[in-house]
Amino acid sequence: MDSVRRMTTRTLGPFTVGSIAFGCWRLTTPSTEEATTLVEAALDLGCNLVDTADVYGLDWGGTGFGSCEERLGAILSARPGLRTRMVLATKGGIIPGVPYDSSPSAITAACEASLRRLCVDHVDLYQIHRPDMFAHPAEVAGALTSLHERGLIGCIGVSNHSAAQVSALQAHLALPIVSVQNEFSAAHVTPLRDGTLDQAMQHGFAMLAWSPLARGAIPTGDGLRVELTEALDRIAADRGADRSTVALAFVLSHPSAPVAIIGTQRAERIRAAVAAAALRLERSEVYAIVQAAEGVRLP
Ligand SMILES: NC(=O)c1ccc[n+]([C@@H]2O[C@H](COP(=O)([O-])OP(=O)(O)OC[C@H]3O[C@@H](n4cnc5c(N)ncnc54)[C@H](OP(=O)(O)O)[C@@H]3O)[C@@H](O)[C@H]2O)c1
Repeated sequence: MDSVRRMTTRTLGPFTVGSIAFGCWRLTTPSTEEATTLVEAALDLGCNLVDTADVYGLDWGGTGFGSCEERLGAILSARPGLRTRMVLATKGGIIPGVPYDSSPSAITAACEASLRRLCVDHVDLYQIHRPDMFAHPAEVAGALTSLHERGLIGCIGVSNHSAAQVSALQAHLALPIVSVQNEFSAAHVTPLRDGTLDQAMQHGFAMLAWSPLARGAIPTGDGLRVELTEALDRIAADRGADRSTVALAFVLSHPSAPVAIIGTQRAERIRAAVAAAALRLERSEVYAIVQAAEGVRLP
């Protein structure tokens, strides 16, 4: 039987990035030195897409809105050479208490504040974190275009957008949307059916899969469907791998060539995730995972 196609690098607009990306939601380690070691380990392993957001730091031990960007900014100030090794991505548009504001003034201010915290003059990818349903896409497009014209952002991406929301924004943008960042894992297979992955393949943009280990639920099994745990463990036993490796390989196996943005704060687990990219799953295996995740036998 055919092995499902998998690539180890991906195209993200003009950039080539590793299929495993380093996420900074949990980059709240006690010291900048520890965080520097971790970011450097990720880069050394080929995880050159580094994804953060202005809102990161409100939870996971952070000290508040912006604190994960500040931590990354401290790393980049101390070690400017690391900036040249990464494709730096951040997001804006969430304002706790509002909760979403993608009006031109809010997005412009959010991006400028992110650059200050990150201690950089531009980011490579700027993403609207969540759709503001009360912002006209033409306004959002105008703000993003202006940020690009000012040289503050390299490329434009969106996150947690439906396929229709992506299309509506793209219709008002001369620049291409290069990525959509939505939740996708063996425990959250919605993008297989809601048009997210189909649209990525239609337009050739990158699908950035957040929480590819379901925020740790896959390795721990906490809150996971029993059928899914059993299916992943069965495949893992057959392949001499572990459950997390199989789950990451599942995400990477989709023909849209997703990037899995992992969140571990341990270098040895980043290494294991990168090794997972080498596992090629059979069609029968990916469909066993889909059926276990959805709890429904496919006809
Ligand atoms: N756009 C959005 O709305 C959105 C939302 C959520 C996340 N994200 C992005 O996605 C990134 C990843 O999210 P995530 O942190 O939820 O990803 P994840 O990789 O699904 O989960 C990581 C969590 O699982 C834990 N874990 C436990 N056992 C593990 C094992 N064997 N291997 C690896 N991890 C294990 C990790 O703990 P240890 O640190 O102890 O290993 C960590 O707390 C974020 O940093 C962010 O960039 C985006």
